[in-house]
Amino acid sequence: MSLLDAARDVRENAYAPYSRFKVGAAIRSASGRVYVGCNVENVAYPEGTCAEAGAIAAMVAAGETALAEVCVIADSPEPVPPCGGCRQKLAEFGQLDVVVTLATTDGRTTKTTIGALLPGGFSAAHMEKA
Ligand code: THU
Repeated sequence: MSLLDAARDVRENAYAPYSRFKVGAAIRSASGRVYVGCNVENVAYPEGTCAEAGAIAAMVAAGETALAEVCVIADSPEPVPPCGGCRQKLAEFGQLDVVVTLATTDGRTTKTTIGALLPGGFSAAHMEKA
């Protein structure tokens, strides 16, 4: 199954009764395994979690920490980019050249990279004097 199909499938399980905006994410790790996640909202709105965060958590729980490829899908006029927090989460586990495919449920896709999504990002190198 392609990464896009995996993201499309898991999106169906999104729990988004408040925004009604379902998001699916699929990531391929360095080992080649695929991990998926969907957004999980909460009545206390800030407690909700994004699809990307769920997929990353699944990868880490399985014992892996290196991202090779990412795909995010939503029903949106334009392919939806990850939120700011998720950009930082992706950068924690993926090199700057890791490809991120953004897709809509009606078939539009665009490709970017973790580096392009988070220019000037904070990294461990900034703490070297600490
Ligand atoms: N959301 C994601 O899961 N990923 C994104 O990249 C953008 C936003 C979710 C969070 C919330 O449940 C809903 O979409 C509306 O913001």
